Amino acid sequence: MRAITAPKEILEIASDLKKKGLSIGLVPTMGALHEGHLALVKKSLEDNDNTIVSIFVNPLQFNNQEDLINYPKSIEEDRDRLQSLGVDFLFEPSTENLYVKKPVVNISFGELESAFEGAYRPGHFAGVGIVVNKLLNLVQPSRAYFGLKDLQQYVIIRKMIEDLSIPVEIIGVETVREESGLAMSSRNRRLSDTGQLIGASIYKGLLSAKEGIQKNRNLKDVRFDLDAFYSSIDGLEVEYLEIIDLTEFTSIDKYEESQEIAICFAGYVEGVRLIDNLIFAA
Ligand code: PAF
Repeated sequence: MRAITAPKEILEIASDLKKKGLSIGLVPTMGALHEGHLALVKKSLEDNDNTIVSIFVNPLQFNNQEDLINYPKSIEEDRDRLQSLGVDFLFEPSTENLYVKKPVVNISFGELESAFEGAYRPGHFAGVGIVVNKLLNLVQPSRAYFGLKDLQQYVIIRKMIEDLSIPVEIIGVETVREESGLAMSSRNRRLSDTGQLIGASIYKGLLSAKEGIQKNRNLKDVRFDLDAFYSSIDGLEVEYLEIIDLTEFTSIDKYEESQEIAICFAGYVEGVRLIDNLIFAA
């Protein structure tokens, strides 16, 4: 695996690979890799001639400085894991390298930007949009891989690629979970064992809501029970809970059979912000 820090160099490497007719898979990450990231990497290795993984903690997407400072880092461990999987290139630019000047361009995603996650993280998706654009331009991948745990991020990136006619296929990869059901996240490293147990109740709640919907219960009752379940868990603080239509990505209060639905959760355990979702057909 070759580690590259200069944007110009990764652009040259990617251009050479493309000239040779080789496909490139890009896995953008912020490091502190876990099995969820590795699932994206493995998929890219299967699908492409070359895989480029980027590790860059993008300051533009953090609306909370403390969250940026506390973002976990494990670069040596990350490098070893990527190397042993057989990744071809690791792109790890510094902030000064990638943002020579603070971008003046602002990417707006309309209503998608201010709903759900966006309502609690102002500027977050605009920052994600800038960095993902930069990475796609530098790496020119055939395919780019994103985890479906960050469902709204996946949806806005898919929209950006469509609206800007960016020539890349975007692949969403299913959430990987701990045995307890807790969705894998770099932030889980900041949870104690008790915190991890509390976090596992998020998925339990989502599963029972899904079961309710698939038994044709009305959404008002399902929501009520889910709220009550989460309120009964000491140490779990809900930030938002939304039942949405996956195609429109809007909140719903009723559904039809076979409709694609996602139940999305965001909240805090031990001061750590956790998100999760469950996608299924009603
Ligand atoms: O999902 C992430 O880790 C980040 O938002 C991403 C896509 C790497 C952009 O910084």
